[in-house]
Amino acid sequence: NVKVILDCDPGHDDAISIILAASEVSNLEIEAITTVAGNVEVEKNTLNALNVCDIVGLKDVPVAQGAEKPLIKEREIAEEIHGDSGLDGPSLPSEPAKKAVSQHAVDLIIEKVLNSDNDITLVPTGPLTNIALAMIREPKIIPKIKEIVLMGGGTFGNWTPAAEFNIYVDAEAAKVVFESGVPIAMFGLDVTHQALATQEIIRELAVIDNSVSNFVVELLQFFAKTYKDVFGFEGAPIHDACTAAYLIDPSIFELKNVRVDIETKGEFSYGMTCVDSLHVSGRVPNVNFAYQLDSDKFWGLFTNALKSYSD
Ligand code: BDR
Ligand code: CA
Repeated sequence: NVKVILDCDPGHDDAISIILAASEVSNLEIEAITTVAGNVEVEKNTLNALNVCDIVGLKDVPVAQGAEKPLIKEREIAEEIHGDSGLDGPSLPSEPAKKAVSQHAVDLIIEKVLNSDNDITLVPTGPLTNIALAMIREPKIIPKIKEIVLMGGGTFGNWTPAAEFNIYVDAEAAKVVFESGVPIAMFGLDVTHQALATQEIIRELAVIDNSVSNFVVELLQFFAKTYKDVFGFEGAPIHDACTAAYLIDPSIFELKNVRVDIETKGEFSYGMTCVDSLHVSGRVPNVNFAYQLDSDKFWGLFTNALKSYSD
């Protein structure tokens, strides 16, 4: 089993990643879910995380709210992609049964990692603010983190031509994390756009017809609509779910060890992940960069995960 802390900003694809991680086909032990400002304000992301926990029955997993804004920059949100609530589409209670713990996400991350046997994997699927803050506040956690499996970056952008949303929102935090020396597996846009929920896939998932799969279908229908409106895409890339899928079955992906540096100064390139694919920098590789996904295996795993939820 792999112990994980899911640090997220749900977010349609964050929610779907939690659902995959919490399913019966998963070998992940969810130690905590922590939230960060990203897709929408952190309070809304927390509310969404709690609702998702109620839906999949994650009763004992602590949910802790984290950073309200990036380390240095002003907050920036992605309402046009995720809607005003951050999880538009399905109708959700405004008062989830589950409550967040009072501890701050950064404190919870520090406490869990310090008390661990160096066996906790951090899984950030939002801006990297909480993770950077934890590393800055308590550097002793750095050598104790087993691995960071994150969604962010890529060799092209979706927020600016150069930058992906999670990295752009807090590039200073991303720089701290990418330079920390902790082993990183990076799921950027190059690979997450291959995890594309097409209308055909959404129709197939609808056949499963349990409460969790129906919730996912509603999420995907909304997400696919905004992707069509904003990017002209046919289908919705479920970016964040690549992290959980990788931890459950690494054979779904192909990765290569490369140097990735975070741009924090460029006029047009702020928030870019500079991926040294041809090893021209001479800098020590710091990232396992995912570039290929086996679509049949990915959707096979995902379908089995949704089927494992019974009403
Ligand atoms: C990332 O940005 C968010 O909108 C998604 O949840 C995902 O984590 C994709 O760029
Ligand atoms: Ca996210």
